Amino acid sequence: MEFKIIEENKIKLFVQKIKIPTKKMEVFYNADMVFDRDISEAICSIFKPKKICDCMAASGARGLRYASELKESEVVLNDKNINSVNIIKKNAELNKLKVRIENEDANTILRKEKFDFIDIDPFGSPIYF
Ligand SMILES: C[S@@+](CC[C@H](N)C(=O)[O-])C[C@H]1O[C@@H](n2cnc3c(N)ncnc32)[C@H](O)[C@@H]1O
Repeated sequence: MEFKIIEENKIKLFVQKIKIPTKKMEVFYNADMVFDRDISEAICSIFKPKKICDCMAASGARGLRYASELKESEVVLNDKNINSVNIIKKNAELNKLKVRIENEDANTILRKEKFDFIDIDPFGSPIYF
């Protein structure tokens, strides 16, 4: 797996070097979704939720952007893929952001804990979550 560092808004991210993003990537990142993440971050910065879960965090782009914007909030980044979890840890360190990182199925973490803001960004339908 080869990685490069990119910048998205105020954060830096190690992302997998690949020309076209597919769900077969070992650690997913899609640069075409930056505007979508901008909107989510804007919504979060208006409502200022105390406890946030990015439950399918992939490279950590969304959760780390929330953590960077909302210093008072507790931000949990979760992904069931261990490769993602390892990169999220590196990306949190790269940006000196304190977040909690979990390696669970989204449905498990959402049953175990309560959150004020839940980001669900699966491949395909969110109905199962
Ligand atoms: C579309 S990507 C998320 C992209 C990310 N939110 C972003 O903005 O860059 C979907 C991610 O969900 C993870 N995933 C898929 N099914 C999951 C599940 N049941 N529980 C937790 N993570 C899951 C995958 O490993 C993948 O990293």
